[in-house]
Amino acid sequence: MQRILVTGGCGFIGSNFVRHMISGDPGLSIVNVDKLTYAGNPENLQDIESDARYTFRHGDIGDRVFIDGVLGEGPVDAVVNFAAESHVDRSILDSGPFVQTNIVGTQVLMDACRKHQVPRYVQVSTDEVYGSLGDEGAFTEETPLAPNSPYSASKAAADLLVRGYHHTFGFPAVITRCSNNYGPYQFPEKLLPLFISNLLENKPVPVYGKGENVRDWIHVMDHCRGIEAALRNGQLGAVYNFGGRSEMRNIDLTRLLLKLLDRPESLIRYVQDRPGHDLRYAIDCTRAERELGWKPQVTFESGLRETIAWYVQHTEWVARIKSGEYTRYYDQQYGDRLSQS
Ligand code: NAD
Ligand code: DAU
Repeated sequence: MQRILVTGGCGFIGSNFVRHMISGDPGLSIVNVDKLTYAGNPENLQDIESDARYTFRHGDIGDRVFIDGVLGEGPVDAVVNFAAESHVDRSILDSGPFVQTNIVGTQVLMDACRKHQVPRYVQVSTDEVYGSLGDEGAFTEETPLAPNSPYSASKAAADLLVRGYHHTFGFPAVITRCSNNYGPYQFPEKLLPLFISNLLENKPVPVYGKGENVRDWIHVMDHCRGIEAALRNGQLGAVYNFGGRSEMRNIDLTRLLLKLLDRPESLIRYVQDRPGHDLRYAIDCTRAERELGWKPQVTFESGLRETIAWYVQHTEWVARIKSGEYTRYYDQQYGDRLSQS
């Protein structure tokens, strides 16, 4: 591959992926299309923005004229679609941008890929499309889709559109579905960066409900390596699950963070639960291991320590984000919850 187009490359996973691909493949150029929403931060790619193999295009994946223009600038060997509204709590406050970007944006992007005959397309999706598990079992690629939040419903809708385009038009797509990512450059609205940054400031951490919900944690670089494997070697029309084989209850993770940061238990606040809160996610990633030769490499213990160290070293990056729009969101999401706890 010589030239790929990545969308949402200024976000958390996208920026890690762009850096990974640029540093790992000297023959590769990347065009990054990003709308720079509240979650898109060009600072995340500051270290590579002057690399001649990197081009940034500011715009919306849902803007047909813009996307047609970018794809018309020259042939690309593949499109990898990270661009999305990604936070479940925000989808509960307002689902509009989720429908627009995650569903309509995917449709516009695929139409443009068809017009410009892009030979390969990767849709970066999530394990949340499968819904919620009880105490046992794990999601496979055959688990029926049963999304439970406006966010996961919009991602499932996009996956179904991709499936339909593949079946009807032979659209050359691969879908990846991954569990909860953690690592550097994650926006501090998600559990891990929110709790780490709050604890570094000696602020309370809001645990939803009793903290009994379970998530499977995967280091973002393991996810990026999985997406690269699916991009290069995935079978067209296939779905690949990726997970970290690292399940933990939120309250156990919160206590581990307190221990690693040497903070008191009194900083835990049990707050009103997330409506429709999925109980448990777990991923069976046997297919990716067998067909792509992929497996997670970063242990949760070492990845978490390294991630904490990154946030300790990047307090200014966090401080620049935790102002303006972020403060309004934080007050809306947590104001009443924290005052009632
Ligand atoms: P993020 O919120 O950190 O970043 C999203 C990026 O997309 C931002 O740079 C934003 O500016 C950009 N964007 C949003 N709307 C856009 C639009 N209309 N046009 C162009 N750019 C737009 O998200 P993330 O956590 O990095 O997730 C990336 C992808 O991976 C998403 O599709 C998400 O559903 C999926 N995913 C995330 C996780 C996770 O744990 N974070 C797990 C599995 C799958
Ligand atoms: O599973 C993959 C998904 O993981 C991705 O598709 C999403 O884009 C990503 O945001 C993430 O979704 P979650 O809802 O699982 O992540 P979040 O960090 O928001 O929450 C993790 C768990 O922590 C969840 O059970 C809710 C809980 N939580 C979260 C926040 C923000 C709290 O208890 N308190 C909080 O303040």
